[in-house]
Amino acid sequence: MKVLVVGGGGREHAICHALSKSAKVDKIWCAPGNGGIASIAECVDITATDIEKMVAFAKENKPDLVMVAPDDPLALGMVDALEDAGIRAFGPHKNAAIIEGSKSFAKDLMHKYNIPTANYAVFEDSAKAIEYIKEQGAPIVVKADGLALGKGVTVAMTEQDAINAVKDAMDGGAFGSAGARVVIEEFLTGPEVSVLAFTDGKTIKTMPSAQDHKRAYDHDKGPNTGGMGAFSPSRMYTDEIAKTCMDTIFRPTIDAMAKEGRTFKGVIYFGLMLTPKGPKVIEYNARFGDPETQAVLSRLETDIFDIFNAVIDGTLADIDIKWSDNAACCVCMASGGYPAKYEKGKVITGLDDVTDSIVYHAGTKLSDGAMVTNGGRVLGVTANAKTLDEAIKKAYADVKKIHFDGVHFRTDIGVK
Ligand code: AMP
Ligand code: GLY
Repeated sequence: MKVLVVGGGGREHAICHALSKSAKVDKIWCAPGNGGIASIAECVDITATDIEKMVAFAKENKPDLVMVAPDDPLALGMVDALEDAGIRAFGPHKNAAIIEGSKSFAKDLMHKYNIPTANYAVFEDSAKAIEYIKEQGAPIVVKADGLALGKGVTVAMTEQDAINAVKDAMDGGAFGSAGARVVIEEFLTGPEVSVLAFTDGKTIKTMPSAQDHKRAYDHDKGPNTGGMGAFSPSRMYTDEIAKTCMDTIFRPTIDAMAKEGRTFKGVIYFGLMLTPKGPKVIEYNARFGDPETQAVLSRLETDIFDIFNAVIDGTLADIDIKWSDNAACCVCMASGGYPAKYEKGKVITGLDDVTDSIVYHAGTKLSDGAMVTNGGRVLGVTANAKTLDEAIKKAYADVKKIHFDGVHFRTDIGVK
């Protein structure tokens, strides 16, 4: 079977790697892919959001399945367009991907169906938003409504910070049209856990829990990033909490989407906060998370191609998905300066010396036979072991073997 994976980061490398282990898959394309993905898939020079070119490529090359991994092509309706062209596609339709693409949609859905989340209000007028902030006081959270590369959220500890965030998003156009509407939310506290799940719209099967590390520097200091590392499972996510989440959040969300005529098929990501009043939803994503996927999929024992097909066919209830009891740790190696300005094209050495980890590539490319940096997050060094402490040690032992100019990584992944 032939599969096309859309995307080109560490998450897509992990998905291609899982597909490459399937006895049924003999050809993988990845568009656009990256320098590391090129070792297991044929990289195709099409931007992940270019629906027209992606559909044309699929029509010509006839993959048996197209897996759309990133948020923006999903929000733009790439799965709908592929299906309209008669191509089998994995991922939510546009009308379901909105659960990530519009935070106000997600909040209104949770409100309507009593799914626990922070109290909130939605504004399209900055003066009214500012008035509301003054009424509520700080700390308070300001979120751009649309997709903003993970940068649209401000956790404001003072009223002034919240007001500035509203002005930047609504009057300053910091996030373009994604910030024309804002959600203002009650500040919650507690540990955060990511739970990803496969769903065919009727059945939902969760993957092992994970935690990511969004801040750039150790001890959760510095600016928010796409994620500097992840580990699985979370130490906080007990069986009892998992059951509560299934009963109050996961099942109700899938049922709510179906009731709204927006049946969700694909991978849904629940960003949860375990608050003193129970687990609450911080955010939904309509896709695999990055870098959680690198940690979580390294524990998958079932053929992922079979799971993708079961999701598409609506037969997820019939498939038994097995995960190893191992713990996994993924440490991201980033370009110096990320998430702000950074340089590209630095030669990466030491990749062949790695012994105990899988190195998923995020921002790399092959240039004259050398692997060079080509993005903010460059590599995700991912190790498995019986215990989390061992997995952390193994991942960091391999991180030390890899070098490029200006490399930056956190030294405390998995410690919190
Ligand atoms: P998001 O992009 O929605 O994942 O938000 C980024 C981060 O902001 C989350 O991982 C949380 O750490 C924080 N955050 C989001 N919403 C809230 C909230 N209501 N209360 C406290 N922290 C929040
Ligand atoms: N790691 C968070 C995300 O993928 O959105």
